[in-house]
Amino acid sequence: MSKNKGYFITFEGPDGSGKSTHIKLVYEALTALNLSCILTREPGGTELGERIRNILKDTALNKTLSIQTEALLLQTARAQHIHEIINPALKEGKIVLCDRFADSSTAYQGIAHGLGKEIIEYLNKISTSGLKPDITIVLDIAPEEGLKRAEKRSRNEPKDRWEEQKSDFHYKVRYAFLELAKAEPERFRVVPVRGTVAETQKQIYNIVKNALGLL
Ligand code: TMP
Repeated sequence: MSKNKGYFITFEGPDGSGKSTHIKLVYEALTALNLSCILTREPGGTELGERIRNILKDTALNKTLSIQTEALLLQTARAQHIHEIINPALKEGKIVLCDRFADSSTAYQGIAHGLGKEIIEYLNKISTSGLKPDITIVLDIAPEEGLKRAEKRSRNEPKDRWEEQKSDFHYKVRYAFLELAKAEPERFRVVPVRGTVAETQKQIYNIVKNALGLL
């Protein structure tokens, strides 16, 4: 448990791992139990964060952005997200479900893009003021499988900045998350994405119930 009254759960994983589907299902299940819970995402969650998300997803504009600019925009969105949404909700005793958080910056910008794990961890410390998730669920999927799913999802839209990356980048992201999980086994739970959505969701929901003391 964090020092807050609430409980902070983050979902991480490579593109197309199904995080957004699963986090929504967990949110619906917890809400059905009358638990006070919010669902939010990064980059995003606040007006500023959603605007930054649009900048990063703007295929024309984002071609001009350096990796450093991208990293700092993501940290800016995060600092505001914590200030405006996450910390107040945790102080009110809510369960906060967040689709991506600081570990995405470490995996994508720090490790896969090569800005440096330590540098991004230092920036994360500033943007989060040291707040860490109580648990982090990593959905693990082979990049080619994840990208196939991401493509199916957005067949008619132009590829975004991240989807345009070559497959070795996505391998680096995958192994970065697995390395982070290995280094902090008390916080991370790795769930392999196999079988049906219902089968994967069952595993995830059991982890969440266990963490919240509902089992
Ligand atoms: P999403 O599609 O899972 O919402 O995330 C959008 C993209 O943002 C995804 O490809 C990963 C990327 N991202 C980073 O590179 N660093 C970060 O810190 C965050 C939060 C997301």
